[in-house]
Amino acid sequence: MALRTLASKKALSLALGGGSRPLAAAAAARGGATTVSLPDLPYDFGALEPAISGEIMRLHHQKHHATYVANYNKALEQLDAAVSKGDASAVVQLQGAIKFNGGGHVNHSIFWKNLKPISEGGGEPPHGKLGWAIDEHFGSFEALVKKMNAEGAALQGSGWVWLALDKEAKKLSVETTPNQDPLVTKGASFVPLLGIDVWEHAYYLQYKNVKPDYLNNIWKVMNWKYAGEVYENVHA
Ligand SMILES: [Fe+2]
Repeated sequence: MALRTLASKKALSLALGGGSRPLAAAAAARGGATTVSLPDLPYDFGALEPAISGEIMRLHHQKHHATYVANYNKALEQLDAAVSKGDASAVVQLQGAIKFNGGGHVNHSIFWKNLKPISEGGGEPPHGKLGWAIDEHFGSFEALVKKMNAEGAALQGSGWVWLALDKEAKKLSVETTPNQDPLVTKGASFVPLLGIDVWEHAYYLQYKNVKPDYLNNIWKVMNWKYAGEVYENVHA
């Protein structure tokens, strides 16, 4: 864990240009936006094998997620400057980078928590209130998996497939979002219980063009305990 933490911080520092000045502290000092940092994985890179290879997990976390973090922080700095100058044109121009990179950070931070090594209970179907709710909304756990796999396989281009809880309607649903759009872009009351990354960078090194195999295997390392806790906290 210590090595991984060090590697994460080093990767982020390099991605941010190698500077040693903490961006968050600098932004806070001038009253600007607080930046984000790359979260540690809660398991080793190879801990999800054979469902997801260690090589994919390392690249996905250390390169892809780290880049979203770096680019989001850079966009926030530019936004601070634009707001300070009252440059409305620049503020508007930055919205795309903030949505894409901020969304990438939000989505991947959830994704790492959605996965768990088999030895620690990954893949164990949901029990308790979430298990009952899935039966009620989808007919069965197997029907939910089939629906999410079908929607993930049908998603054109890059994006995400979600098991969502509408906290106002108290209903579960399967949703998809394009690119790095977070689930909240589908509705302010949507809370993500599970999100599956169906960008090619999430599976191509191992599964090549066979996205359905990736979707079938990811359930073997799904962290239903996390999803159940989010469900019970939000639904209570
Ligand atoms: Fe990803």
